[in-house]
Amino acid sequence: MSATQLATPPPSVLRMAEGGIHFDGVRAVDGVTLEVRSGEVLGLIGPNGSGKTSTLNLLSGMLRATSGSIHLDDHDLTRLSMRRRTRFGVVRTFQSGRVFGRLTIAENVEAAALGGGLRRREARQLTADILAELGLEDVAHQQADALTAGRIRITAIARALASRPRFLLLDEPAAGQNESEAIALITAIREFAQRRGCGVLLVEHDMSVVMGTCDRLHVLDSGRTVTEGEPALVRRDPKVIEIYFGKRHDHDAER
Ligand SMILES: Nc1ncnc2c1ncn2[C@@H]1O[C@H](COP(=O)(O)OP(=O)(O)OP(=O)(O)O)[C@@H](O)[C@H]1O
Ligand SMILES: [Mg+2]
Repeated sequence: MSATQLATPPPSVLRMAEGGIHFDGVRAVDGVTLEVRSGEVLGLIGPNGSGKTSTLNLLSGMLRATSGSIHLDDHDLTRLSMRRRTRFGVVRTFQSGRVFGRLTIAENVEAAALGGGLRRREARQLTADILAELGLEDVAHQQADALTAGRIRITAIARALASRPRFLLLDEPAAGQNESEAIALITAIREFAQRRGCGVLLVEHDMSVVMGTCDRLHVLDSGRTVTEGEPALVRRDPKVIEIYFGKRHDHDAER
């Protein structure tokens, strides 16, 4: 069986409408509307503290929205726990990466595939495909405990992919990697998503990493949407130039 023989689910949309959350008066997310579609990578970018992680947490169910709504097609997820959203196929990974240290990388990924309901033979094949796609073949039979933090983080992403999510939410998956490693990892995730009809929300702060790897960009600043669109257009938007480069120049001028 090859990857393409696994059934592709019908197209779906994960949508947040006017979503908001505040912490002790800080409006971390303030009326944001965005949607992620099957098979695309939506890059969520913005300066530090602009509300990217909080937006991802609202979609995953880690945080409950204080305003607005979250839907997967016609299903209202707004009040559902993270666990119940996972059953709808909305899956997030964690920064630290959650893996079984005593198992090998291949066993870790296969366990996630089996947990997602595949039979052993299908789970093995999917595991082999994912390990090849994410460049983990050379460490497939090493115990997870023995690997670097970066490899463990990629293994956690491989496990998330093996659970065959409909929507995958990634918070800075390439943190700690250099630009070319980051681009290679995100490109591999994107190809996986396109082939299997999975939608990806990718939080990433580095503009040069998202430029060539995301289908669309959604830009946040102070918890609000600045703009959204094709990467090449977004990068030229004067409002984006201002928040990405203008403020930094102001800080420099103040020093
Ligand atoms: N649990 C919390 N309690 C209080 N304030 C919080 C909490 N989580 C986030 N905030 C605040 O909400 C705002 C948005 O934070 P968030 O982590 O979503 O931003 P971010 O864009 O992911 O930032 P970074 O680029 O640094 O990861 C910030 O002002 C932050 O201090
Ligand atoms: Mg963050």
